[in-house]
Amino acid sequence: MALVPYAAGSHGALAALHCPAATFRFAGRPLRIRQRWAQLGVAAVVWDAAVVLSTFLEAGSIDLRDRHVLELGAGTGLPGIVAALLGKRGRSPRRVPAGARVTLTDRADALELLEANVRDNLPPEALPRAAVRELAWGQGLGAFPAGAFDLVLGSDIVYLEETFAALLRTLEHVCAARTLVLLACRLRYERDHRFLRLLRARFAVRELLHDAGTDVRIYEARKAARGDEL
Ligand SMILES: C[S@@+](CC[C@H](N)C(=O)[O-])C[C@H]1O[C@@H](n2cnc3c(N)ncnc32)[C@H](O)[C@@H]1O
Repeated sequence: MALVPYAAGSHGALAALHCPAATFRFAGRPLRIRQRWAQLGVAAVVWDAAVVLSTFLEAGSIDLRDRHVLELGAGTGLPGIVAALLGKRGRSPRRVPAGARVTLTDRADALELLEANVRDNLPPEALPRAAVRELAWGQGLGAFPAGAFDLVLGSDIVYLEETFAALLRTLEHVCAARTLVLLACRLRYERDHRFLRLLRARFAVRELLHDAGTDVRIYEARKAARGDEL
């Protein structure tokens, strides 16, 4: 599967994709995320959905401390990096939360850049709590303990119809009843809506937010009893 599905231009909105780095401020820190569109395509730029999801995490409605977090299709890794920064060790001298442990995953081709971004943007004390690992959806799932994660993040990972079944299998494997899945998506095509219908057949899905500026929506999904519908 090609990693560069879109024609690359250097004007308009695409210009930002060609920048060697994108800069942000999250968790009180400047972040500089390296990009490499020309070599790696979609996995190597920061998509709007990643920024919307990171902003949502920073708003604080999800307690990240002491949580096991998995990011799927992390690309450059912004939400996973922000989760690691926000889920840092508390200051209470009595019962100190362990701090979020974040596993950022993607296909093998994307891992070198992802590792560099994690290394560049996490302070030394947070680095041991972040791991970068290969996870091609639906493959080698045995390497990830079933239901081991409290929070699963995915930004702009719903876009390739041929991956939908494998992505669903992956979500079913890594989620337990307690697991919260947060998917940030720009639903571009009818097939993207089809993914949500497939997801709703197995998870209780609810839209949490629509960012009008970017048309990115955040959905929560849980394996537990079906509740709200889209
Ligand atoms: C549009 S990019 C989004 C990247 C990043 N999450 C963001 O929002 O900036 C889609 C990501 O999904 C990953 N991806 C696509 N197919 C995959 C598969 N079968 N298994 C694992 N990751 C996959 C790509 O490598 C890429 O990093």
